[in-house]
Amino acid sequence: MMKVGLIGWRGMVGSVLMQRMREERDFDLIEAVFFTTSNVGGAAPSEGRGVPLKDAFDLSALMAMETIISCQGGDYTTEIFPKLRAAGWSGYWIDAASTLRMEDDAVIVLDPVNLDLIKANIANGGKNFIGGNCTNSILLMGLGGLFRAGVVEWVSSMTYQAASGAGAQNMRELLNQMGAAHASVADLLADSKSAILEIDRKLAETMRSAEFPTEHFGAPLAGSLIPWIDKALDNGQSKEEWKGQAEVNKILGTSATIPVDGLCVRIGAMRCHSLALTLKLKRDLPLSEIEALIKSGNPWVKFVANDRALSVKELTPTAVTGKLDIAVGRVRKLNMGPEYMSAFVCGDQLLWGAAEPLRRTLRILLG
Ligand code: HSE
Repeated sequence: MMKVGLIGWRGMVGSVLMQRMREERDFDLIEAVFFTTSNVGGAAPSEGRGVPLKDAFDLSALMAMETIISCQGGDYTTEIFPKLRAAGWSGYWIDAASTLRMEDDAVIVLDPVNLDLIKANIANGGKNFIGGNCTNSILLMGLGGLFRAGVVEWVSSMTYQAASGAGAQNMRELLNQMGAAHASVADLLADSKSAILEIDRKLAETMRSAEFPTEHFGAPLAGSLIPWIDKALDNGQSKEEWKGQAEVNKILGTSATIPVDGLCVRIGAMRCHSLALTLKLKRDLPLSEIEALIKSGNPWVKFVANDRALSVKELTPTAVTGKLDIAVGRVRKLNMGPEYMSAFVCGDQLLWGAAEPLRRTLRILLG
């Protein structure tokens, strides 16, 4: 059985990965070895078959692995990965962190979209398999059928990104903000005759106050939004926005770059990212054909007809959270012309956006 080292399995993405690996019985097929950065010698999960936790900084222990899956984060990858390769380790490295994503010898893994690319890389001796940015993976899981058909000229992608993309502490802070917001007006709310504008004034005062919990986001998110995600680049894009075109084209293996750009915005959802998309198609396709192409993308596409009641019920973070479904809806032609269409895509950023492509890559490597 393949010896597979798991690192960062206790964090948020790692925990979702563990849950999915258990559900799919992946552990039956591997010899799982659990590593830790903080509790060497401690008890591993039962799938570790009684072997205590190994040191995630012990190169020789890591080099005994045929495959390593890391959800430990970019700093760990930056420190350990070059040392392992320099020491001659030739195992498979599967990573959720972005550190190695754009390296020439790395594949961004999203097998329902780019299985051919992954297989070709393996056949050519490729060893580095990196999960994509969550927003891009969700975009491509939703509209992969259109890209595969080669009908997309460009995409404008306006995102509505959940707190989980920023980390577990941010999810907690969002809830703390919700609680603080509610608490500040709870007495007025309880009185059905109180003035709504007075409630609103008091709430705004609370959200702008220094006491409002913003340590992790740096700004109020509950009852508001944050129109910037990740670092600023010199060209006016955020790093999250830059990743759109770079990663989408790398995942698809395009020979001519498909322009992808738009604004990335943090909203007060817990773990589902959504994208409002404008696409320019290469030709005027009938809506029925567009819908058929989207549905043919992969089995997880949950197409929602462009109907008010269905959209409100099925095309939301609340409907999609915790599921592998990628909801795709609001598909219609736009006033700009017959080649212009809209779509709204919503997916759980911890599943297809992070953990799921990693465990599926392991399955591909297992053959
Ligand atoms: N960068 C993403 C976000 C999450 O901040 O939502 C990781 O892909």
